[in-house]
Amino acid sequence: MSRLNLMIAVAMLTLASACTQTATVGTDADNQVIAAIMSRRSIRHYKPEPVPRELMNRIVECGINAPSGMNRQPWEIRVVDNSAMLDTISKLQLQMLDSTRRAQMESQPGFRNIFRNAPTVAFIACPVDGGQLDCGMLCQNMMIAAQSLGIGSCCLGGPIRFLKTDEARFFVEQLGFSPEYQLLLAIGFGYPDEAPEAKPRDASKARYVN
Ligand SMILES: Cc1cc2nc3c(=O)[nH]c(=O)nc-3n(C[C@H](O)[C@H](O)[C@H](O)COP(=O)(O)O)c2cc1C
Repeated sequence: MSRLNLMIAVAMLTLASACTQTATVGTDADNQVIAAIMSRRSIRHYKPEPVPRELMNRIVECGINAPSGMNRQPWEIRVVDNSAMLDTISKLQLQMLDSTRRAQMESQPGFRNIFRNAPTVAFIACPVDGGQLDCGMLCQNMMIAAQSLGIGSCCLGGPIRFLKTDEARFFVEQLGFSPEYQLLLAIGFGYPDEAPEAKPRDASKARYVN
């Protein structure tokens, strides 16, 4: 057998064995999607630099590739990586807290802003009459994509309560959502400056029904 024929035979054998392999769970390292899901943790301390826009664009692109009911895509996303904007709204919220709570927040090590110190924040809005499930899928896609790119994230429901007050209206107006949309959730993104342990999960929440 010539050298070329031998190489072709080896290549065909390798391909055939790959095609006949049965599905296995494998280890996390074998599967980048599972690795990203299992290693993601909510990050609350970040390096100061914002997420490069080319990475953020990819993260948003992954978000809008989430499934949605009848492909309605009931979401609007606004990304803010302007630290002055995030600082302004943070200072305003701090001013509105009582002095004990404000001192508590400001004394947190590395406190930078009310978005768990993230340098880049995505604000997600959905129609006033629904779309929350679809937006949840968009958010998770964005966070898993971020994880796979070395970017940490944290879902932020807390600041939304404040952003819905009259005092914060000017900020939400700057975000420029369509009139029939309301702010649902923020997600902080940035290069992680911590590596928190996984919080426990309750496996008994899921079971087969026979
Ligand atoms: C809808 C939603 C809202 C959340 N809001 C906040 C928040 O306001 N502040 C915060 O620090 N974490 C927030 N989290 C993050 C959760 O605390 C976190 O996901 C949970 O403790 C599990 O930890 P893990 O993400 O590290 O696995 C939120 C998560 C979700 C899904």
